Amino acid sequence: MRNEKQNTLRGSLTFPGDKSLSHRAALLAALAKGTSTLYNFLGASDTLNALKAIESLGVSVTKIGEDTYQVKSPGVQGLTPPKNVIDCGNSGTLSRLLLGMLAGLDGITATIDGDASLRTRPMRRVTQILEKLGAQFEYLEKADCLPIRVTGTKLPPIVFTETLGSAQVKSAVILAALSSGVSLSLTEEICSRDHTENMLRFAGVLVKKEGITEENSVTAKSSTHGVNPPIFIPEKQSVKPQDYKIWGDISSAAFFAVGASLLKGSEVLLQGVLLNPFRDRYLKVLTQMGASVEILPQRDECGEKGGDVLVRYSPLSGIKIPKEDIPSLIDELPILTVAGVYCKGTFSYRDAKELRVKESDRIGIMVENLENLGVSVEEFDDGLSVEGNPSAQLAGKITTRMDHRIVMSFEIANLSPGASLEIEGKEWIETSFPSFYTKLQRVLNYAPPLLEKGVVAIDGPAGSGKSTVAYMLARALGFNQLDSGALYRAFTYRGYQKFVAMEKQGIAMEKQGWDIAVQENEQLVNYLQSMPVRLEFAPDGRQHVYAEDVELQDELRSAEVASRIKPIADALFIRERVKTILRDAALRYTLVADGRDMGTEVFPEAHFKFFLTASSRVRAERRLIEFQQKDPHATLETVEKQIIERDRDDGLRKVGALKPAPKAIFIDTSSRTQEQVVQIMLAYIRYAAH
Ligand code: DC
Repeated sequence: MRNEKQNTLRGSLTFPGDKSLSHRAALLAALAKGTSTLYNFLGASDTLNALKAIESLGVSVTKIGEDTYQVKSPGVQGLTPPKNVIDCGNSGTLSRLLLGMLAGLDGITATIDGDASLRTRPMRRVTQILEKLGAQFEYLEKADCLPIRVTGTKLPPIVFTETLGSAQVKSAVILAALSSGVSLSLTEEICSRDHTENMLRFAGVLVKKEGITEENSVTAKSSTHGVNPPIFIPEKQSVKPQDYKIWGDISSAAFFAVGASLLKGSEVLLQGVLLNPFRDRYLKVLTQMGASVEILPQRDECGEKGGDVLVRYSPLSGIKIPKEDIPSLIDELPILTVAGVYCKGTFSYRDAKELRVKESDRIGIMVENLENLGVSVEEFDDGLSVEGNPSAQLAGKITTRMDHRIVMSFEIANLSPGASLEIEGKEWIETSFPSFYTKLQRVLNYAPPLLEKGVVAIDGPAGSGKSTVAYMLARALGFNQLDSGALYRAFTYRGYQKFVAMEKQGIAMEKQGWDIAVQENEQLVNYLQSMPVRLEFAPDGRQHVYAEDVELQDELRSAEVASRIKPIADALFIRERVKTILRDAALRYTLVADGRDMGTEVFPEAHFKFFLTASSRVRAERRLIEFQQKDPHATLETVEKQIIERDRDDGLRKVGALKPAPKAIFIDTSSRTQEQVVQIMLAYIRYAAH
């Protein structure tokens, strides 16, 4: 049926655990003596086979929740030979990593096998390297292929140069060294995915980057191809048990990222995905095509950075994907090709021969389908080129050759206005992303309600842009803006007036300065304890502060007040009073509250907690003029230095320390406009609770 309506994708989605991380977490948990927990573990056959494999080595695996497994291992020394053949099913990663791990396990003999397709895939790339070091493999049927019997031996220290750019080969050798307890020096000629190294560090193994100086460390880390720093792992390193919170698979998120880019009115928040630079490259390609993509890193888990991605509709233009990007987005080329079909201009890529030997010949199948649909497409031996058309209306049959990514790619195309595609082989989605259709239903034409009442807390360091953003967000939600800093300023202003008056009246201050008096002078403390302070909000959402029924305005913003505020902000009794006033306000008003401890102390139950950050340099730029009013000699460098020092002090403060609330959502405002930051917050507020 022709798709007459304008579909949208709106809402938030989470994704099944990343496959590479799931495999590695299972094997590392097996090498670690003690109990590890695997959260969001991918429940697909490949990774479930990894759990069965470690069980057969004497490790106990218990399912303790949906996608959560507890792994109890006796550690490297206690693993026992499996009674049966270890079946790796269809998984190349599992078989190759296991060959490495078992080759170094002295005293263990095991047979590794797989399904008919895995039996045809070459294992030599792993075995030949390890054989040179004395590892023992016996090919039970065909040379270089599974089934293979491996007899573990204590290997000598390993010095190895990886030349294929294969993360599987690299990881197999690393695991062999670890299970033998020997040192490893590893150099890569072509950079490959670094999940194993990252996760080993997380599991307490010393993985040193060798030959890295201050200057080249950044380039080495951020480049995905070319230089990967050589690494060194000393002998006798033990893997520690860990909690592995496995990030969602960013490749599964790609279908929704492209869908949201193509469908007018769309906005999807893809939450909790792995943001390793080898894996999120397709988002950069989409951005270069004109897509609206906000990447929002949140935390490190399993030694890997992860976070959220917000994608909105935006017209796309053509691109020739650079050669060096291809290895990092090979899995996403089919869905990016769909983006190319609807772009303005020409979309093309070359140097992707490997795509012809994936689950299907993905170049051939895309070209065949697009030609059948009347799309202007040219095929090359290693790529393709498509003439895009933003108003293309695709109709016809789609052949998918049992390839799940081809099915999902055309399902996304089928949402476009005027599309009418008959897609065969939908059941193949089960092999990699069984919840694809449920996720699609969740966001298809969803109309989210906006938050109607409650509290949104915004914290962050000075210069991160809190107060303006809080005001704009309050306006957008129809909420009031609660400025907690103004209360500390009010106590400072009135308290200091009282202090001066007391001095004038000759009331004994025992030579106390302001700082001490705030803490110790009984009369001043009593005054501050009982001074009536009240908050009101104007119809435009702006806060008004009254102390003893007098409204305080510009006087609160003076440099004098700012210079006297510290003892007030440090005084516990003042913080308690401010907290009471703020929480009282929340009973009567809907609020966007900004400060430094809104999410941690004042409103720990807030509906949403944001933590704004910005680099010290950007914050120094934003505050330079303000600093120069106090000190005309202030330069960007001196201001930045002060900001860094203040950050350190703020984090260490006994009371009112600046720290992110648990589960706070981080937004880096360094290279975003205030409007962009507000739009991101609104997306979280609309969708994150959905
Ligand atoms: O946000 P502002 O510049 O108006 O804050 C004034 C001072 O008050 C600042 O030095 C930090 C302090 N403050 C605090 O300790 N806790 C808050 N929730 C807000 C501000």
